[in-house]
Amino acid sequence: MTAGLLIIGDITTEMRDRLEGRLALHDAHRIDDMSAFLDREGGRIRYALTDGHYGVPRDWMDAMPDLALISNYGVGYDAIDVGLSLSRNVLVTHTPQVLNDEVATTALMLMLASYRNLLASDAYVRAGRWVGEGHIKPSRSADSRRVGILGLGRIGLALARKLEPFHAEIAYHNRSPRDVPYRYYDDLAALAAACEVLFVVTPGGDETRGIVDRRVLDALGPEGLLVNVSRGSVVDEPELVAALQEGRLGAAGLDVFADEPHVPPSLLTMPNVVLTPHIGSATVETRRAMGNLVVDNLLQHLADGRVISPVPECRDLATIADRFDA
Ligand code: 8YV
Repeated sequence: MTAGLLIIGDITTEMRDRLEGRLALHDAHRIDDMSAFLDREGGRIRYALTDGHYGVPRDWMDAMPDLALISNYGVGYDAIDVGLSLSRNVLVTHTPQVLNDEVATTALMLMLASYRNLLASDAYVRAGRWVGEGHIKPSRSADSRRVGILGLGRIGLALARKLEPFHAEIAYHNRSPRDVPYRYYDDLAALAAACEVLFVVTPGGDETRGIVDRRVLDALGPEGLLVNVSRGSVVDEPELVAALQEGRLGAAGLDVFADEPHVPPSLLTMPNVVLTPHIGSATVETRRAMGNLVVDNLLQHLADGRVISPVPECRDLATIADRFDA
């Protein structure tokens, strides 16, 4: 009998085409009564495909006793209860590496747009003000900035490399120092005080919840720029809004928010804020690579019980197919 796959969230046609015929596909968002569905089909669901936004709700997991693998469409898996998965021998995989450069580019883009006043310049031309009022006033330069990276992991390193041509002076904060030519700060507020731009690229989840707090924002200061491409949860959002409103923080470039897709209304009217709708990895090319890895993990497991890119907590549980350096 064909094993069942519960799909939570959207997937691409390419992903669906590869899965069709191999697994019995069930799209959660097309099911009206989920508990009736799970009562009926839960015992046949062996796989779940989800993303960093939805995860797999606990009561759904309860109703899928034979669930073997959750394949996450994204590198961040903070929406998945990995402890619960481990306790049930459910493997979790994710999509590291393939999106490093894309998310780094998004972060860089937010910095460039912010310093160079991209949105206001575009609006200026469209409104006919260049003709009517002459040149717009100069922006600030994005070159030679003192940059802080919160989370010098795979994406943080890709970002550091992309910042080097801009002559950035790079420093970082991690739990522990790495063997890199960048200055390490063991205190996040000290890093914020030392830099002009603070990039948030550390994973979300309980360990990082709210670590960019008032103290850190105040240390970044009235000339400082905060860029967040990680998770809204890492930043204390009400404190961020207050700091921007009160001029204690200079500017922000934000791709992620605490309650997506909802953005605090007061941010919508701030000229010193650039907003994007969680597009960090969202290009056709990178989503294709991520989608392939999501499907490869599922099909590999279906074939021989191994997976390609388990989350670190699952390494002991996983028999890793020797193909991917996660
Ligand atoms: C996805 C992400 O947008 O990889 C991640 O962690 O945040 C993004 O690539 C996310 O999985 C939500 O769909």
